[in-house]
Amino acid sequence: MEINGRTSVCGLIGHPVEHTLSPVIHNTLASLLGHDLVYVPFPVEPGRVADAIKGADALQVLGLNVTVPYKSAVLDLLAEIDTLAGNIGAVNTLVRTKSGYKGYNTDMEGLYRAMQIEGIKIEKERIILLGAGGAARAVAHLCALKGADTVYMLNRTLDKAEQVAEEVNGVAGRQVVCPMLLQEYTRIPDGQYLAVQGTSVGLAPHDDRVVISDPAFYEKIHTGFDLIYNPWETRFMQLVTAHGGRAYNGLKMLLYQGIIAYELWNDVQVKEQDAQIIYERLETQFRKS
Ligand code: ATR
Repeated sequence: MEINGRTSVCGLIGHPVEHTLSPVIHNTLASLLGHDLVYVPFPVEPGRVADAIKGADALQVLGLNVTVPYKSAVLDLLAEIDTLAGNIGAVNTLVRTKSGYKGYNTDMEGLYRAMQIEGIKIEKERIILLGAGGAARAVAHLCALKGADTVYMLNRTLDKAEQVAEEVNGVAGRQVVCPMLLQEYTRIPDGQYLAVQGTSVGLAPHDDRVVISDPAFYEKIHTGFDLIYNPWETRFMQLVTAHGGRAYNGLKMLLYQGIIAYELWNDVQVKEQDAQIIYERLETQFRKS
């Protein structure tokens, strides 16, 4: 693309940012949609995030993505926070407004859109959620918001699952999240479940790891969604598939969190055929790296 005096700038702040796939999403979208926009990663040293946000505003940076370790740290620096992002307590997308940046959590909106595209329902579903860390906590909020029947939240540390359950059930005003120890999975009532793998277990280079390996557990899963996409097929996904379920990795969540951020920055609706083109590029890029 040709950069000129009117080119809009968007970017990513985090530490580190070198391995991000987000430039592929946003620069491809800009080119597909004919937008005069460039997306660049900005490494921000610990302790400099307030300077970064203030500087970005002064430089009229149209939008920012926020990644580890600043997703919660930026909350105090924003002019406004979207409700879902506020409930989760983490943002990954900032949109410049007249009064400063407004924060959103398109990670969860992205997961939801990815599930809709794949025909995976949350509403009235009984869901098993593995983990109670930052990612799983956000998924629990999403499930409650989108009307899940019950979410069995299984975690190695019960305390953490209990805290998340209290928080999410408080926001939801009903008992949606049921916290359990990981090894208590045998107590989950019989039935067929959507399972979301939200722990960091199984992430490359520890591809062979999984939090539960008992075949009886996988008999209960009709669909497994792993938030991890590296490796492409996690051990969790292999076990789901081996027991007749459908399994998905987290790349479409990454894709749609980016697409939704781009839509917010540019006030556009991205067509599914364009999303598909970007998905193929992401997959190629991923397989090269
Ligand atoms: P993220 O932001 O990716 O969610 P996190 O907040 O550090 O990362 O959460 C990591 C999750 O993976 C937690 O649910 C963690 O369980 P604990 O709360 O008990 O720490 C889970 N996890 C990490 N390593 C694990 C392991 N070896 N066995 C079981 N669970 C593990």
